[in-house]
Amino acid sequence: TRRSYHEKVLDHYSNPRNVGSMSKADTDVGTGLVGAPACGDVMKLQIRVDPTNNTISDVKFKTFGCGSAIASSSYLTELVRGMTLEDAGKIRNTQIAQELCLPPVKLHCSMLAEDAIKSAISNYYIKNPTARPATNLAGTSASMPKVEVETVMEAPQVA
Ligand code: FES
Repeated sequence: TRRSYHEKVLDHYSNPRNVGSMSKADTDVGTGLVGAPACGDVMKLQIRVDPTNNTISDVKFKTFGCGSAIASSSYLTELVRGMTLEDAGKIRNTQIAQELCLPPVKLHCSMLAEDAIKSAISNYYIKNPTARPATNLAGTSASMPKVEVETVMEAPQVA
């Protein structure tokens, strides 16, 4: 219903969970930085990984974007905490959009969250190559939007 759309999005928008940053230099931290070409909104998502079991022990985000993008990233941080990297890499934006009841015009906002977690996982694997599952070569790293990260770096004014 429209009511539940407003409740969930507004809840995450007005009380976003896990806002913040971690040190990019830490080897157990993966950083994803992505942008939505359509609107210029930007999302940074960082995961800290427990190397003993490849699960996400902590997660932080900063989103300079619309309410739906902020809500999508806030919800995503709650979703991925405690997940294995493999499971977190399988999260699809449709799952986020369904949970938040986003309308079709806001689907790309949830896509930003899917891109961000994939990008963070990919960055972690680059820093920790031995952690990458051997059977997953065509998996999470494939869609890392490298070009968009370049664009994002030039757009701090959106803050
Ligand atoms: Fe672009 Fe929401 S309007 S991320």
